[in-house]
Amino acid sequence: MENLKPGGIAVIDFGSQYTQLIARRIRELGVYSEVYPHDGAAEHINQHQPAGYVLSGGPSSVYESGAPRLPQFLLESERPILGICYGMQLLTAALGGVVAAAREKEYGPAAISHQPPSPLFDGLDPELQVWMSHGDRIEALPAGFRALAQSDNSPLAAIGDLARDYYGLQFHPEVRHSAGGRAILSNFLFKICRCQPRWSAAAFIDDAVRRIREQADGERVLLALSGGVDSAVAGALIHRAIGERLTCIFVDHGMLRMGEAEAVVRVFRQEQGMKLIAVNAVEHFLTALKGITEPEAKRKLIGALFIERFNEEAQKLRGIRFLAQGTIYPDVIESAADSAAAKTIKSHHNVGGLPQDLQFELIEPLRDLFKDEVRKIGEALGLPQSIIWRQPFPGPGLAIRCLGELTWERLEKLRAADAIFTGELAASGLLRGGTAQSFAVLLPVKSVGVMGDNRSYEEVLALRSVTTDDFMTADWSRLPYDLLARVSARIVNEVPGINRVAYDITSKPPGTIEWE
Ligand code: XMP
Repeated sequence: MENLKPGGIAVIDFGSQYTQLIARRIRELGVYSEVYPHDGAAEHINQHQPAGYVLSGGPSSVYESGAPRLPQFLLESERPILGICYGMQLLTAALGGVVAAAREKEYGPAAISHQPPSPLFDGLDPELQVWMSHGDRIEALPAGFRALAQSDNSPLAAIGDLARDYYGLQFHPEVRHSAGGRAILSNFLFKICRCQPRWSAAAFIDDAVRRIREQADGERVLLALSGGVDSAVAGALIHRAIGERLTCIFVDHGMLRMGEAEAVVRVFRQEQGMKLIAVNAVEHFLTALKGITEPEAKRKLIGALFIERFNEEAQKLRGIRFLAQGTIYPDVIESAADSAAAKTIKSHHNVGGLPQDLQFELIEPLRDLFKDEVRKIGEALGLPQSIIWRQPFPGPGLAIRCLGELTWERLEKLRAADAIFTGELAASGLLRGGTAQSFAVLLPVKSVGVMGDNRSYEEVLALRSVTTDDFMTADWSRLPYDLLARVSARIVNEVPGINRVAYDITSKPPGTIEWE
């Protein structure tokens, strides 16, 4: 990748919820892009010789005390700069213009019109619908700038100094609701920064294979395979690079969905020809979890048990120097972000996560990739669609969807109901796209029903389905009633021990996606 990164775009983060999205959109256009904190060191931000900078939006006001400042070296670099929202205001203030609080705050869709000629709007319709989200606005332009576009509320919806290649947008070109946003970013990349579109799945794979070979240097590598997309793609990539020198460990803790454990073994051992140690730890986990119902206690114990079991297997293998992980770029950004103020809602455990105390060196071939890029790489490596398009699944698995006590019988009940729900969603084309995450939750509650002429007294099952882009906030899916009716009837008829089905209509917040 070292030769795919230079000449890309550095995105400077001023705290916008859309910062990652900016980098993603740029990469979708075939140009490498990385996010850096606004107070990062110049050498760090310039490490890959970016062809230009994008300044993100952010929640601050430029004249507030303590508001993030524009790093001086950006202006000294003489490279193109595109400021978005707060980024535009910052650029304006730094170059001698005036920013003030707008009388009317502007959130949501707005129509703008632009005046040619400007390379940023080259080839776009004269009128565009865009997505605004700002409180401040620009009152006076810095010397050398002119208005490039306006909306009813923002006479300066886009500005530019064409001689210095400095541009500012009051709206967000990175969100899908901004028509032409992609074309605006494309103009910035290719017409203004003169980037080359070199970032592609094939180029990434070639480069990653070469780097993995170099790093592994003839030694063996261990990988914890969970069956999820990230570890699967990391495994396939490393396998392509070093073949037999990769050993995968898959710990079956009994909390996977229907057919999943078998699929992991079939796909990776038989279809991909990878060396895979499958550990059946179902008894071990269920015995240890017996009687435990408190969600955090379940989560912590499963995390600890997983590491213990993985450790045991790893110790049996001699002479392994490297541990591979499917860490992806959002994990890297999130763990770098200041989390001091964040409260623990749930302790996340990634089964397949790092056993901290193992003495391995790390190989993380997906560290620079977004999830959708990971999927593209997986496709290019020939992994089956069923693995690549799996919906996210929590590390503790069904343990946190089987509320109350975990028994094999209850887990099987949940698996059967979950398979009916997801099967019907798949048949309606709503599993891949349409819903972001859909699953069943077994409740530790019994209710009375009538089956034939008899009274039943059985457990209640909840269906959960959400739409979301980032899993930080989510809305419940407006599933068709017919589909819900079919799923409910099938579950009650086909799964013994469940006599009532409920649909969860809570958004996040205040709910979370998982129930525990
Ligand atoms: P919540 O329930 O916090 O979930 O709204 C947000 C997303 O995170 C997933 N999740 C986990 N993922 N390990 C994981 O790898 C975990 O322990 C875990 N807990 C929740 C959840 O499925 C949803 O996609």
